[in-house]
Amino acid sequence: MKKTFLSLLLLCSLPVLSQDNGQDTFVQNLLSQMTLEEKIGQLNLSAGEDFSTGQAQSTNIAGKIKNGQITGIFNIKGVDKIREMQRIAVEESRLKIPLIFGMDVIHGYETVFPIPLGLASTWNMEAIEQSARIAALEASADGIHWTFSPMVDIARDPRWGRIAEGSGEDPFLGGAVAQAMVKGYQGDNTYTGNDRIMACVKHYALYGASEAGRDYNTVDMSRIRMFNEYMYPYQAAVEAGAESVMASFNEVDGVPATANKWLMTDILRNTWHLKGFIVTDYTGIEEMTAHGIGDLQTVSARALDAGIDMDMVSEGFLSTLAQSFKEGKITEEQINTACYRVLVAKYKLGLFTDPYKFCDTQRAKTQIYTPEHRSIARKIAAESFVLLKNADDVLPLKKQGTIAVIGPMANTRSNILGAWSVSADLSKPATLVEGLKEVSGKNTRIVYAKGSNLTEDAEYEKRSTGTGHTLYRDNQTNEQLLNEALSAAQKADVIVAALGEASEMSGESSSRTDLNIPDVQQDLLKALLKTGKPVVLVLFTGRPLTLTWEQENVPAILNVWHGGSEAAGAIGDVLFGDVNPGGKLVATFPKNVGQIPLYYNHKNTGRPLPEGKWFEKYRSNYLDVDNEPLYPFGYGLSYTQFEYSDVKLSSSTMEANGNLTASVTVTNKGQRAGAEVVQLYIRDREGSVTRPVKELKGFEKVFIEAGQSKEITFQITPGLLKFYNYHLEYVLEPGEFDVMIGGNSRDVKTIRFTLH
Ligand code: GLC
Repeated sequence: MKKTFLSLLLLCSLPVLSQDNGQDTFVQNLLSQMTLEEKIGQLNLSAGEDFSTGQAQSTNIAGKIKNGQITGIFNIKGVDKIREMQRIAVEESRLKIPLIFGMDVIHGYETVFPIPLGLASTWNMEAIEQSARIAALEASADGIHWTFSPMVDIARDPRWGRIAEGSGEDPFLGGAVAQAMVKGYQGDNTYTGNDRIMACVKHYALYGASEAGRDYNTVDMSRIRMFNEYMYPYQAAVEAGAESVMASFNEVDGVPATANKWLMTDILRNTWHLKGFIVTDYTGIEEMTAHGIGDLQTVSARALDAGIDMDMVSEGFLSTLAQSFKEGKITEEQINTACYRVLVAKYKLGLFTDPYKFCDTQRAKTQIYTPEHRSIARKIAAESFVLLKNADDVLPLKKQGTIAVIGPMANTRSNILGAWSVSADLSKPATLVEGLKEVSGKNTRIVYAKGSNLTEDAEYEKRSTGTGHTLYRDNQTNEQLLNEALSAAQKADVIVAALGEASEMSGESSSRTDLNIPDVQQDLLKALLKTGKPVVLVLFTGRPLTLTWEQENVPAILNVWHGGSEAAGAIGDVLFGDVNPGGKLVATFPKNVGQIPLYYNHKNTGRPLPEGKWFEKYRSNYLDVDNEPLYPFGYGLSYTQFEYSDVKLSSSTMEANGNLTASVTVTNKGQRAGAEVVQLYIRDREGSVTRPVKELKGFEKVFIEAGQSKEITFQITPGLLKFYNYHLEYVLEPGEFDVMIGGNSRDVKTIRFTLH
């Protein structure tokens, strides 16, 4: 009764929906009733108090809602709280305009999936879309309308902690993931039901290119690199219909993205035709005073003029736009345009018809963290793991004997989730020990010891385990911890070393200069290896690490990223062979930090090192290490082996308006079925600008039974060969092209064709 009455009240107080029930008519009518202050209020996004994702807090939220000074709230969890905030807006404000509720649901809501870097490592777009679909189902069941995802920043520097949140170093793969996630969240972009949420592609633009991998740092790159190597994933998300875009903190061409009209209007709106709205990142407007662009009033006016529609937490719009209008520094049309876009989003969500549409308490009780969602998350987590080494087939383990599970990541619930698990219940995930006990069954004895703390330095550990993700630092000495571990190891037939990064060692404001497994954990690993028992390293990480010593000394290494709420069982599924791992890296693992940035789609330079050579004077190389990564882009092993043969092209020439078919035969030479990601790379041998030595232009994940073969084909079209030239024209240039096909970016078979 109450809901119907409120909806009626709302409609009575607003203009009667015009005959065409048109969105534009409704919004224009509403705009015509609004004061300047109320329009500005619709551009102000506040942070709730349930958790913090930035360094400033919003205040007096209820009062500002009543005064029409808030358009939406994020960082608030729970349908009851959301309903109450919405009630204040639609009952106590003058025009009763509903609020929009957002949240960082970036790899699941309460059912948590692997971090996005892990999700991308599945190379399975259907699985990625499904993860976003489930995230939308659960978040919308709890009152959320809008997620600040997908994060699509290309990242080539693993010192940057936010590499965890994206899809790695390649734009082709990044674009595919972006589209899958937008579709998973938004469906057909109509929001007729209440189980879809609006996406927000971020961080536009180039945030992943922060110098030295230090968060929020300067970004500076040529526009040719920008458009050939970084911008496509944002464009792909916009073309997929992303309803909003988030501006990045960093500057581009010397102007912070938040005030960069070329980025926000010329490119995003006038070239890519974004229809939705643009929100800043957390205090992104206010931070432009620190960038040195002006005082709060100046930077707020510049942001509005650049094309920003919504101010996240700065309250720069709220506190200065009216004054700037009076001073003629901005126009009412600019405010109307921004307000129109925000109101359209609320209209599309159906919030004017029913502001409580997403506040279905029954859904909140029945559709969140369900066994079905968790089962899917466990399957996807297992698919995200990357088998980096498996000497002498140490893996899979047998479900028998005694297994010692040792390490600071063996007995944690919260740290298995990964960064940005803001809406998860940190107490819910199973620990790795529990997961292995569940999967290994009654014939296996699992013993546990922590073995070491996360890091020698207590303060470093504290900085790395914030926001409730504690590892309960053990006050025993390193020696005492080690002795406990060795005593557990002594009882075991095989040792599982659960080591690596805590979940908050990656993500925002979590850059690192040393990418080794932390000191005390390495000491532990060396001691475990000295026992002479088989050691399997289960590596938890939010980024590529430098594992040169481990690759040389540890028989088996399984990279499990931070696999989400169901990771423990998933790790068991893979370790005991119930699932054959098939994940492939989407970011290069360097041999050491000195090689960074190190990425597969690099340029040849004028002095390339000859193939297979380690060093040659006067060539582009180092004195102390070769140019090769430890593990290349696209790399990942399986419990079986795949052989590539018979790479063919339908022709050795291609017309500018034609296409070619590339084919390859992949054979499963092992004893068990498995999935393989067949990758297609192309090299433009000559261009009017320098071109990368290879670029991913196709991939297909195939499942092949033991002993079977499959022929995989790829269509090579002119669009795959285009690039931005010196004048930023998107061109196709004739010449020779190499087609390379393989199971990673290094081990490929090559064939050439000529484009006429
Ligand atoms: C943070 C992040 C951004 C996030 C936003 C809201 O600072 O940069 O990714 O969506 O604030 O939490």
